[in-house]
Amino acid sequence: MAGQTDHTLRGDYANIRPDYTVDQDYSLYTVAEQDLWKRLYARQSALIPHYACDEIIDVLASLNLGTGIPRFDEINVKLIAATRWSLVAVPGLLPDDVFFTHLANRRFPVSVWLRTPEEFEYIVEPDIFHDFFGHVPLLFNETFADYLEAYGKGGVKANGLNALDYLARLYWYTVEFGLISTPKGLRAYGAGILSSSGELPYCVLSQQPNRIRFDLLRVMQSNYKIDTFQDTYFVIDSFQELFDATAPDFTPYYVELRGRPDLTAMARLETDQLIKV
Ligand code: PHE
Ligand code: FE
Repeated sequence: MAGQTDHTLRGDYANIRPDYTVDQDYSLYTVAEQDLWKRLYARQSALIPHYACDEIIDVLASLNLGTGIPRFDEINVKLIAATRWSLVAVPGLLPDDVFFTHLANRRFPVSVWLRTPEEFEYIVEPDIFHDFFGHVPLLFNETFADYLEAYGKGGVKANGLNALDYLARLYWYTVEFGLISTPKGLRAYGAGILSSSGELPYCVLSQQPNRIRFDLLRVMQSNYKIDTFQDTYFVIDSFQELFDATAPDFTPYYVELRGRPDLTAMARLETDQLIKV
């Protein structure tokens, strides 16, 4: 995940390079951490065939991440060949401009540290499990990979236009918590869902949340919660739809949005196209 946080950041920022990257020192991972990774992976990968979209199922099956904490170098050989994206190791969350610049250059920042056993169920900050399990699979998808690069470029621009709040919502409701319609029914593609054992079944099965057809301005109008399951998911038909809807210059959209009220995470509008499960 990306974005602001109130609490002190975990992770060692003492030895970062100017672009906030560090080396992944693989020898620092303990046996207990390797074991925790395997348990996280085993639980989560059992859910994937039921609740994630096919693009993710296929890539995860081919990456073989279950045997231990992944080495960035090894994944990068495959990732660069597939979509010209690469992973860079970072201590944790990054300043917005640094984060966007990495994405704009097809580099995805991945935290080097793993959560503690106490955080098996839930973690607020992105650790290496969330970043790998949640984000890496779709970096192998051509269209999604292009979307994420465009997002990074859009972030640099939005920063200059004071519109980061709007763009952060788009990231949240797509890259982190997006759902997609498939012939098998609704499926998850957002990383925040994919790495959560509770929310992955919930987002597809529960009667509780709103599921609303993706509408770009509606998404950017909507607040979100970071500490509970989502009240609302936005549903796309394809990654191409996402790419095409976000291709225009957002400058006039930001003007339009400033004239609209912000919506709560659970709001429903007359104009929303609700999707039933
Ligand atoms: N087209 C957007 C702009 O002009 C950039 C963007 C692309 C933003 C994809 C998000 C996702 O700002
Ligand atoms: Fe994330």
